[in-house]
Amino acid sequence: MTTHQGNHDNPSLPLFYPPYVEDEAARAFLDDHDPDLVLAAFRDAAGGPTYMRRLGAMARAVLRSGTRPRKVLDVCAGAGDLGRILGLLERGCTVDFLDRDRFSLALTGRINRRRRVRGRLLERDLWDEDWGTGLSGDYDVIACAGGLSTLDEDRMREVFADFQRMLRDGGQLLLNGPTTGAGEAPSDGDSTPRWNAFFRRLDRHLGGSRRRTMVSAVPPGRHPIDDAGLPIRTYLRALADAGFGKAEVVDRNAGEVTILATWEVFGVQAA
Ligand SMILES: C[S@@+](CC[C@H](N)C(=O)[O-])C[C@H]1O[C@@H](n2cnc3c(N)ncnc32)[C@H](O)[C@@H]1O
Repeated sequence: MTTHQGNHDNPSLPLFYPPYVEDEAARAFLDDHDPDLVLAAFRDAAGGPTYMRRLGAMARAVLRSGTRPRKVLDVCAGAGDLGRILGLLERGCTVDFLDRDRFSLALTGRINRRRRVRGRLLERDLWDEDWGTGLSGDYDVIACAGGLSTLDEDRMREVFADFQRMLRDGGQLLLNGPTTGAGEAPSDGDSTPRWNAFFRRLDRHLGGSRRRTMVSAVPPGRHPIDDAGLPIRTYLRALADAGFGKAEVVDRNAGEVTILATWEVFGVQAA
């Protein structure tokens, strides 16, 4: 487990964390390729317009709730788009980006440097019991989009309980996961071929398998949720069991649901 921790709580410090130690192959690749073009390829693989629409819907859900986060954790951050958008909602916000894929972290770091986003890069795997070591209980918002499918339901429930411990009272959990429920909004169809092309291209340069770290690696004998997804009510029940008193479906399309859940120590307050 690697932690690259900066004193990001002091806004007078210039940018965000001490130099992030990039994976060597990722550094060589990102020195040769414009990170913004790589980000564009990531967005395209993630669904293009559908992905951008989902990001917008997620950020709007937080805005509508009245929250202006000062401290955000983006879990399974990928290229970090969601965390960066949430970080824009309040001046001085710090955003920590967590992923197990070293290339995704390196790409996020390059883009963050360009956009002057303050925060940490955390190389962690949600399957590890100690994935949350050192993450305090004062996040305003924890976002987790697109990564739950690599867990199984039991591990997802444990991770929800970890999220709850990392949030301040009144903090929010913003989730997006695959669902079996029928959708209303159109999607761009199956993005698998686009992901495969993206992974193939990166693997040629970086070695190893992006598909393995970004999608398929699970402990022996465990079966990930995968694109098949879970019924929306299963997510809602798991959130209630983890102590989230309030959970609202804020968006859904043909295969995904977005939920905003709130952790309130003393229960939901009357309006
Ligand atoms: C499809 S991308 C989603 C990226 C971004 N959150 C989004 O909204 O599009 C899923 C990311 O989750 C990461 N991931 C998958 N399983 C993980 C795990 N068990 N622990 C940490 N990161 C994981 C992958 O490496 C990948 O970067």
